[in-house]
Amino acid sequence: MGVPFFDIGRLNASIADDIASAAQRALTSSWYILGKEGEAFESQMSLQLGSGRVLGCNSGTDALILSLLAADIGIEDEVITVAHTAIPTVAAICAVGAIPVLIDIDYDTWALDVTKIAEVLTQKTKAIIVVHLYGNMVDVNSVRNVVCSAGRSDIAIIEDVAQAQGAELNSQSAGTIGRFGAFSFYPSKNIGALGDGGAVCCNNEADVEQVRMLRNYGQKDRYHTEISRGTNSRLDEIQAAILSAKLPFLKNWNKRKACLMERYRTELSGLPLKFQQVTSGCEPAWHLCVVALDAPERRDQLIAHFQREEIQTLIHYPIPNHRQPAFAHAIIQDLSVTDSLVGRILSLPFSPILSDDEQTIVINSARAFFGAA
Ligand SMILES: Cc1ncc(COP(=O)(O)O)c(C=O)c1O
Repeated sequence: MGVPFFDIGRLNASIADDIASAAQRALTSSWYILGKEGEAFESQMSLQLGSGRVLGCNSGTDALILSLLAADIGIEDEVITVAHTAIPTVAAICAVGAIPVLIDIDYDTWALDVTKIAEVLTQKTKAIIVVHLYGNMVDVNSVRNVVCSAGRSDIAIIEDVAQAQGAELNSQSAGTIGRFGAFSFYPSKNIGALGDGGAVCCNNEADVEQVRMLRNYGQKDRYHTEISRGTNSRLDEIQAAILSAKLPFLKNWNKRKACLMERYRTELSGLPLKFQQVTSGCEPAWHLCVVALDAPERRDQLIAHFQREEIQTLIHYPIPNHRQPAFAHAIIQDLSVTDSLVGRILSLPFSPILSDDEQTIVINSARAFFGAA
């Protein structure tokens, strides 16, 4: 018996009735964009986050783009982020015409290394995108301290929460600590739509109005616009209804993944595998279970071993962004931690629907590979 990386269909089937009645409600409403379902979802998610105002949009990438546009970032501005993240984090910076400044990650938490920010700050720096990678958070307050100490409290801090919905830092929800929080509802995320979807959490009222206009052609009211960089990025009513049905499950799904993570850590301890260290003060919302091996060759041998046993694994991400041809114009710092990590990482089967028996298969297989069965 093999083990899938994440059987999304099985997770959705487990709440099929909730999803079907939500979709049916939207279907019969005769109103498909910017209606009651979207508003209800935005209120429900704002409430769950505890502060800030959520506005739905087309995708996590758009959530980042809308945040950058609302912060008035454009041509020649510099935006700091990590090289070790999904392509869309950096693509969003380029989409608004800004220049990505890619810095290194911390050796243990694999999150943006806050100590590296000061050396890349320039007069052109307009924003920092902190990526809460794999479900662990960047210490956003430390990032704020660094920019404030440099006299640059004008720099917009944007949290990329695509992989960490439900995480907290000192009891504050991920996405509510910076100026903006950008969420993705890509189907495999902590809360996934049945298609694309995203949201921006704005943490001040002026930004709420900006994002509200930007996502709807820049319109202030119907057929009236005062801003030129508007686009069409709206969460449709069917996805919003489905997301409303799924949101109440977030806590339990995250809890289940916390248990799975704990078991992987306990039962694979003693093997030459390194796990991500949690940032101090953070309650993670694990999206992926990533381990680092001691050498790239061992990683590739382990992948081949798992493949023979039909255990699916993935690599998040095999090519860091400073090595992507599209981002050759990025300004880069010394990225030695990133470069040393990417060749050694492997994402193990992990999802709220992974059964105990499936996890046992993965654990036994890994232990056998290292001769520790
Ligand atoms: C860290 C990160 N940022 C941004 C995104 C973009 O989200 P979406 O696929 O919804 O555009 C993703 C999703 O893959 C992601 O993992």
